[in-house]
Amino acid sequence: MKLLSVNVSRPREISHDGKTVRTGIFKQRIEGRVMLRELNIEGDGQADLVGHGGIYKAAYVYSVENYRYWENELGRSDCAFGQFGENFTVEGMLDDDIHVGDTFRIGGTLVEVTQPRVPCFKLGIRMGIPGFEHVLLSSNRMGFYLRVLEEGEVGAGDAIEPVDVDPECMSVAEVNNLLYFDLGNLEDARKALRIKALSPGWRGSFENRLAKAEISGKTAEGFRTLIVDRIERESENISSFYLLPEDGKKLPPFMPGQFLPMRLDIPGEPKPLNRTYSLSDRPGRDYYRLTIKREPPPKDRPNTPPGRSSNYFHDRLKPGARLRVRSPRGKFYLDPKGASPVALVSAGVGLTPMISMLNAIVETGAERPVWFVHGARNGAEHAMGAHVRRLANENDFVHSYIRYSRPAPEEMEGRDYDSEGHVDAALLERLLPEEGVDYYLCGPTPFLKSVFIGLLAGGVAEERIHFEFFGPASSLREGDDAGVSGGDCVDCSTEIEVTFKRSGVTGNWNPSFGTLLDMAEKLGLSPAYSCRSGICQTCICSIEDGEVEYVEEPLDLPDDDAVLICCSKPKTDVVIDV
Ligand SMILES: Cc1cc2nc3c(=O)[nH]c(=O)nc-3n(C[C@H](O)[C@H](O)[C@H](O)COP(=O)(O)OP(=O)(O)OC[C@H]3O[C@@H](n4cnc5c(N)ncnc54)[C@H](O)[C@@H]3O)c2cc1C
Ligand code: FES
Repeated sequence: MKLLSVNVSRPREISHDGKTVRTGIFKQRIEGRVMLRELNIEGDGQADLVGHGGIYKAAYVYSVENYRYWENELGRSDCAFGQFGENFTVEGMLDDDIHVGDTFRIGGTLVEVTQPRVPCFKLGIRMGIPGFEHVLLSSNRMGFYLRVLEEGEVGAGDAIEPVDVDPECMSVAEVNNLLYFDLGNLEDARKALRIKALSPGWRGSFENRLAKAEISGKTAEGFRTLIVDRIERESENISSFYLLPEDGKKLPPFMPGQFLPMRLDIPGEPKPLNRTYSLSDRPGRDYYRLTIKREPPPKDRPNTPPGRSSNYFHDRLKPGARLRVRSPRGKFYLDPKGASPVALVSAGVGLTPMISMLNAIVETGAERPVWFVHGARNGAEHAMGAHVRRLANENDFVHSYIRYSRPAPEEMEGRDYDSEGHVDAALLERLLPEEGVDYYLCGPTPFLKSVFIGLLAGGVAEERIHFEFFGPASSLREGDDAGVSGGDCVDCSTEIEVTFKRSGVTGNWNPSFGTLLDMAEKLGLSPAYSCRSGICQTCICSIEDGEVEYVEEPLDLPDDDAVLICCSKPKTDVVIDV
């Protein structure tokens, strides 16, 4: 194996289809030796630092054998080294032979293979063949990226020496095929996740696939009937409902923090109600438990009818009643196998996902430090207090702290609750270690806002703060519409244009956004949403032009001229009323 050519370029602007595109794909061969550093090669640059670059993509490698293949396929002979945007043109490193995770010495460097290339439309521009990126993808001759383990000098003519072969032995071609074409192969997705060197972007894609398969495999079954087995009162206004499968079959698994979508046929209601309730016990039980607060009329409108579903649960649902539910879902969940300390911070009925997470952590036996911090008005409204206290007494790694905003006269600080007031960031700062804690927040919007802003102000990294709204969501930051941060981008922008008409904002779709809602948020907009899972219809918008497709099956499809932006992506250019 040999390094034939080192190719670099600085990003430049080119005109394409009447638009200006910034790209670093026009690589030119350089002579002599250059430094390969952790982030890239001396003299090189990427225009789209979302899709390219970073430590997992410090250099892109393409094999000269592929040049021969394309010259033959395309009937051309004008391809100079660097034509495919690669930094290293090499000999003898074909996608079928090199494994993700293999390490090599090239010149003075030590490098490891992290992922196949993700081609974008700029390759089509570079080749002068619109859509060539799709041709490359189906050829499975992608080339691959390197991470630099030891920086050093490289130059054309350097030998490439294998150092280690990854134990999973998954070739670049196999991993590429798995991501794009072998979608149902969950066994290999698990195998790919065992490759330590795999880049976070690709890792995330396989993790999502497995998580979705766990959940959506069951979703395909549609609704399932659960029977209310028993009802337990947790406080004056909160009760737990234990549900068993009518057919006696195993219940679909879920992650602690996820919720159960359901469709309620309430006598007297003109149409079924779609509602979601968090699962309040840990996964792995033979029942599901929901813990529901009776929703009164708003304080400023005492004459409006009280909450329909919650009051139906409290007043009319009896053991033996049947409920039509879908499989659990939701993106607010905790990985119980994680190791970081966790703060489960809630107010009111927002404690339900936290109890599931707490029980799941205790169940693993891993002694992961966890702080359960909860705010309630007083003992009458405080649910599951005895349960949490018991777990804290029995397990040194579980810490509990309870605040009452209006304790009853007979309630005593230190015995019934820990202090008076609301749960806020100052309290968390006092209770928790300074660094490394993952925060999970759930409760009324003012509570979420105050804790979220306070944590950020206290220096907690945003990616460590996870939250869930039980009603329509809004931005948590004053004067800042970026309510939610999205995942890592692993792909380049496409040519599909999305126009959020009412906001006057247009952008190019990038598959790594996930959904139209995520894209809107990335662009600084804050459309209304609640479940983010196609259940509640809060995010429904009219679609004025173009077509979308659903990435997650909604509970009910909206009319043709409307779209649920939380679970859809564009198929063509679209204009949406956001
Ligand atoms: C992801 C997620 C998880 C959730 N988990 C839980 C959970 O674990 N436990 C839980 O208790 N809840 C949970 N919820 C909330 C739950 O889904 C319901 O939203 C809640 O029970 C209220 O529904 P409802 O049908 O009772 O009230 P609705 O009938 O939807 O009414 C809501 C409120 O509006 C008021 N109202 C009615 N008519 C009017 C009017 N004309 N004008 C003004 N106001 C009016 C009602 O009085 C009530 O206060 C969760 C929500 C989400 C999104
Ligand atoms: S936010 Fe609930 S359906 Fe989209």
